[in-house]
Amino acid sequence: MATVRKPAAKMDAIAMLIADHKKVQKAFKDFEKLKEGGSKRGRSDIVRQTCADLTVHTMIEEEIFYPAARKAIKDMDVMDEATVEHAGAKELIAQLESMQPGDDLYDAKFTVLGESVNHHIREEQNEMFPKVRKTKLDLNALAEQMAQRKAELESQISAGDGADREKRGMGSARSRASTSPQY
Ligand SMILES: [Fe+2]
Ligand SMILES: [Fe+2]
Repeated sequence: MATVRKPAAKMDAIAMLIADHKKVQKAFKDFEKLKEGGSKRGRSDIVRQTCADLTVHTMIEEEIFYPAARKAIKDMDVMDEATVEHAGAKELIAQLESMQPGDDLYDAKFTVLGESVNHHIREEQNEMFPKVRKTKLDLNALAEQMAQRKAELESQISAGDGADREKRGMGSARSRASTSPQY
């Protein structure tokens, strides 16, 4: 997939996360538009891609950005709440990944995921990120680490999608269900 991406070194850690936020927010909007008359296939493509994007994004935050932010800012509540919100999103993502596009509640689950992700993004951008910006945290060094990890996770996801299933003897498309827990 040839998405043109700005070199990560040009963005600091917060700019990188905000760019991810914009991408998923646009996807949730596109999905809502497709609910009125759009194809089921189009919707499920958005769901699959957005769940993968969110999985990578939350992992980068939890492995790299949040621990650094926790050390740098004094407000633990904002970090704890963000972590709990991630857990909620992961639960919905796992459910969606085990479902088929025509299933009951498939669209509703994705819409609700979008609502909670939008809420979470607002808290990060309006509360957490401004606090982190005021500290001496080296956001450029952090960005480099995050970009590296992101590339690694993205290649794992695209390579693992088919191969892992084969390895576990679950070749059929129906068994997509079980691909998510490894993340
Ligand atoms: Fe985020
Ligand atoms: Fe987050």
